Amino acid sequence: MYILDQEQCIGCGTCVAACHNKALELSENLPVHHADKCNWCGHCLAVCPRDAIMIDGDGYNIEDVEEFSLLTRPTVQQIRRQIMMRRSVRTFNEEEVTDAELAYILEAAKYAPTAKNGQGNRLLVITTKEGREELLARSMEIIEQIGRETADSAPGLSAFFMMKSKMYKELGEDGLFYQAPVIIYIFADSDIDGAICAATMMNMVEAQQGLGACYLQLAADPFNKCPDLKAAYEIPAEKKCVIAIALGHTDEEYFSSVPRKEVPITWK
Ligand SMILES: Cc1cc2nc3c(=O)[nH]c(=O)nc-3n(C[C@H](O)[C@H](O)[C@H](O)COP(=O)(O)O)c2cc1C
Repeated sequence: MYILDQEQCIGCGTCVAACHNKALELSENLPVHHADKCNWCGHCLAVCPRDAIMIDGDGYNIEDVEEFSLLTRPTVQQIRRQIMMRRSVRTFNEEEVTDAELAYILEAAKYAPTAKNGQGNRLLVITTKEGREELLARSMEIIEQIGRETADSAPGLSAFFMMKSKMYKELGEDGLFYQAPVIIYIFADSDIDGAICAATMMNMVEAQQGLGACYLQLAADPFNKCPDLKAAYEIPAEKKCVIAIALGHTDEEYFSSVPRKEVPITWK
């Protein structure tokens, strides 16, 4: 629900100009809100210099809103270092991920942008050994099934899937979750929403000392192959499993960034 504090509003029109959906118009020096045009992105609230606008209820909580100053941004060098020093971590130690560490990462998912502010992302978070082992066993069965079914159509992929399931069956090797203590699955209405959500959470992993993570495309495939698996974890059938993240603490240390190819750019 959109709420305007008329006492605070000075009719400056900043919110009206900022609304890309044209859901606000100025009438008699006050913004009038058209809910049918609004996608609840909150831009009006963020630009209001008088804290006169609230969005509350219907899943939103005005208490979430924090005041920020653009002057408190991290520096270019801090962000650059974070981007360049990120590694995919696949060796996790015994240290538990604390509730506080996990809470920051899950909060990041909430603030990831979604197309048309659809906010259709959904998470499955596995934090117990039993939960991980159960899902690992079921996923490996489905990975083997996909491997068998794709032997003719995609022999390379099939061989990879068969190898993963064989290593698990014969040696008990966890080549899916890498024994990470926490697995976060991202389900979404679109690949792009889900991928941005995952990347946003990854930023928060990188920001926390000692934590490491790895994207797991392979872990998503069983959910998309098998509707029963989604149902077993109460995931709506229409949501696509976009990717999962293996998360935990690592003893690995990195002393440098790695070389990468240039991204081809077309300049006009
Ligand atoms: C979309 C995506 C899916 C990935 N899926 C897996 C996966 O299933 N298993 C895995 O071990 N690594 C996976 N990775 C990690 C990549 O192998 C890794 O990002 C790449 O080798 C570059 O290494 P870096 O992340 O350490 O820079 C995935 C990465 C991305 C971006």
